[in-house]
Amino acid sequence: MSKIQMPEGFLWGGATAANQYEGGWNEGGRGPSIADVLTGGSVNTERRLTPAAPLEDEFYPNHEATDFYHHWKEDIKLFAEMGFKIYRFSISWSRIFPKGDETTPNEEGLQFYDKVIDELLSYNIEPLVTISHYENPLHLSLEYGGWKNRKLIDFYMNFAEVLFKRYKGKVKYWLTFNEINMLTVPFGGVFCAGILDEKENTEENRYQAMHHQLVASALAVKLAHEIDEDNKLGCMLAYHNGYPYTCHPEDILFAQQYGQIHNSIAGDVHVRGKYPAFAKRHFEEHNVNLQVKPEDAKILNEGRVDFVSISYYSSICVSTTKDGEKTAGNGTENIKNPYLKASEWGWQIDAVGLRYVLNQVYDRYELPIMIVENGLGAVDKVSEDGKIHDDYRIEYMKKHIEQMKEAIYDGVDLIAYTCWGCTDIVSASTGEVKKRYGLIYVNKHDDGSGDLSRMPKDSFYWYKKAIESNGEEL
Ligand code: BG6
Repeated sequence: MSKIQMPEGFLWGGATAANQYEGGWNEGGRGPSIADVLTGGSVNTERRLTPAAPLEDEFYPNHEATDFYHHWKEDIKLFAEMGFKIYRFSISWSRIFPKGDETTPNEEGLQFYDKVIDELLSYNIEPLVTISHYENPLHLSLEYGGWKNRKLIDFYMNFAEVLFKRYKGKVKYWLTFNEINMLTVPFGGVFCAGILDEKENTEENRYQAMHHQLVASALAVKLAHEIDEDNKLGCMLAYHNGYPYTCHPEDILFAQQYGQIHNSIAGDVHVRGKYPAFAKRHFEEHNVNLQVKPEDAKILNEGRVDFVSISYYSSICVSTTKDGEKTAGNGTENIKNPYLKASEWGWQIDAVGLRYVLNQVYDRYELPIMIVENGLGAVDKVSEDGKIHDDYRIEYMKKHIEQMKEAIYDGVDLIAYTCWGCTDIVSASTGEVKKRYGLIYVNKHDDGSGDLSRMPKDSFYWYKKAIESNGEEL
């Protein structure tokens, strides 16, 4: 293993999303979001929607989640103790605009984030804000059908403008949409676009929603730069790393197309300001007739992002020539790789794949990169000594950070790493708390029990050392 130095000023930290962490779903004037009508799940089962409203006899894990809303001070103190330089979080849209289509924001909601941001800054932790992370206000789905409706661009822009103005000089790094490219799969139709009617969750509607979000993102980038020229805006891609299952040329081609569709359509528009050439054929062959306005090309071109961010958890194999045993991945299911082990949820662990992906992204875009999600979802058990010895999580992070260092040596301009779910939160895909990513344990369980007390795991102390030594001591 090489002894490569991490760059000075590298931004180490952690990441969460409001809908999975904050709780306080009906406090402080907050309105319901789509995350609030998703029931809890158990291993390998889909979450269920109760589209119109939460029901009495159902359990909705996001309602309280792990209660950052009431534990923000204590949690940020723990982040600071780990030595975080950056903390990625999202702002709950329906806390600021409870229905999403109002023109005046909810002052109480903003005051919550004022406190959070000021607290972070008091510890010199850089806030990295995701404007929209899987939680459109529910009203925008019920009334307008979600992001397939172009009207959502204006509502999003009201929200973004309020944030850019309020946090001018305090927040410099912004992500416009979490994992926009999840819109290539049905999961994204619900989580990204808020399309709650299953019949409407078609490929065509999802690409239409993606187009609207790409236009909104470009407008937000332009506006943020106008409000404060120091603002840095990034896109966020769930990086789908699909290896060819065999060396058959058909599989090689298929893997290339898999990457083009799932990563590069959205990524290219964000970074290059236009759709890549291959999108046209894909749209034609999949009966996707995008409704595009004449001004869109100019908007997309003028709203190119300053940096690229990715989530990376695992890799998968793809093939047209052979069937293989299937396994899960982030938002996808595909063929198992015989050379890799998997997490308890079947996500295949592939640290070397991170180096491969970082090189691929940097070759294509030549912009600074942040890894804004990476980590291991695992079941943690409190040991007899009352502690959590999560050596499996340490091993996962260590191996991925080693590969990050290799990628930096390869020439990749990597500027930040925020591990996912730095404290235990609710899983997006399954709704479980049992699928824990945290370096901090939260005493909360899938039946809603637990006193919400916090406790550092072994990984907490390990990461603290890794940060202190700027990645030398892993
Ligand atoms: C990413 C999302 O796709 O993966 C997060 O941005 C999510 O919101 C994370 O939590 C891990 O996925 P899961 O389903 O294990 O929570």
